[in-house]
Amino acid sequence: MKKHSMLKAVAGAGVLALGIGLAGCAGDRTGGNAGGGEEEAGGIIGVAMPTQQSERWIADGNNVKAQLEELGYQVDLQYANDDIPTQVSQIENMISSGANALIIASIDGTTLTDVLQQAKDADIPVIAYDRLINGTPNVDYYTTFDNYKVGVQQATSLLTGLGVLDASGADTGAAGPFNVELFAGSPDDNNATFFWQGAIDTLQPYLDKGTLVVPSGQTDFGQAAILRWLPETAQERMENILTVIGSTKLQGVLSPYDGLSIGIISALTSGGYSASDLPVVTGQDAEVGSIKSIIAGEQYSTIFKDTRELAKQAVTMVDDIRKGETPQVNDEETYDNGEKIVPSYLLESTIVTKDNYKEILIDSGYYTEADLG
Ligand code: BGC
Repeated sequence: MKKHSMLKAVAGAGVLALGIGLAGCAGDRTGGNAGGGEEEAGGIIGVAMPTQQSERWIADGNNVKAQLEELGYQVDLQYANDDIPTQVSQIENMISSGANALIIASIDGTTLTDVLQQAKDADIPVIAYDRLINGTPNVDYYTTFDNYKVGVQQATSLLTGLGVLDASGADTGAAGPFNVELFAGSPDDNNATFFWQGAIDTLQPYLDKGTLVVPSGQTDFGQAAILRWLPETAQERMENILTVIGSTKLQGVLSPYDGLSIGIISALTSGGYSASDLPVVTGQDAEVGSIKSIIAGEQYSTIFKDTRELAKQAVTMVDDIRKGETPQVNDEETYDNGEKIVPSYLLESTIVTKDNYKEILIDSGYYTEADLG
């Protein structure tokens, strides 16, 4: 059967039936049909997402799926409940079921080396989605946001919330000292160190001159990191810090993700803070719960990363590869995964506060008023 007629035949069938039908045709799963530009793309795309515990990944999964289906692809979308062996076996199943390409948002970026060798052996191209996959040459492209800049934005919004910077980003000369605590993301997520580095580079001059003080003394990534980005772990760490620092009042908390911010705020309110004296707490992902919290004057800021755009980028990369074209990238130096520099397409993120959430999130159609009501 010629490739394009097989792909058409395949297009109407269920994914399971397809898996069986294609099981013996691994050789046909080329990453693209180089030289065959006249052939139609199509096929099955495996989409591996980390967890449904966070809205952002649900939105990512839905967006990727809908956009691929619009282009005529079949989609095998799986969530791994933040469990590494589950994600590995989901990807193995995608490979053995005849996936033509994989889009993967990893849980732990270092644990997919073996399974991606299987993908390579079956000629299946791999796109790392949002999180870099480390330690393997078998990742073809990467799309994400400018993760260092996300960290800079988180720290900048902390400084703005404290009044150290004004709305234009200029130093106000405020001397503080402001007491802040620092949180980082999951150490097995490559993004977490980028966020941290961007934030620390921005805060360091103020830590050095004493405008900012970290009362717990916990200023290392290892001390600040929250494994698997779990809100309850952040809550627990915040509770412990409050115990350690006693009556010292906090004015700010650097939080790299909305889920952590919710846990942190919950520890702060149980620890005696009220709406009027809650510290400036940052975030990331513009999740509904956090936007509501921002509107209510609890959380101060978040970073909006438009998952529609990220999905579009990943889908375009897959579609290009399937059509034998070379995906467009805009960064070929930042994301070294230990085996290669993965060609990347980076998107821009935006700081969101109470002042601009309507314009950024509602006017853009990301949320409706009712979502946030
Ligand atoms: C993503 C963030 C997200 C975090 C927790 C990171 O890899 O880039 O957007 O907040 O994971 O899910």
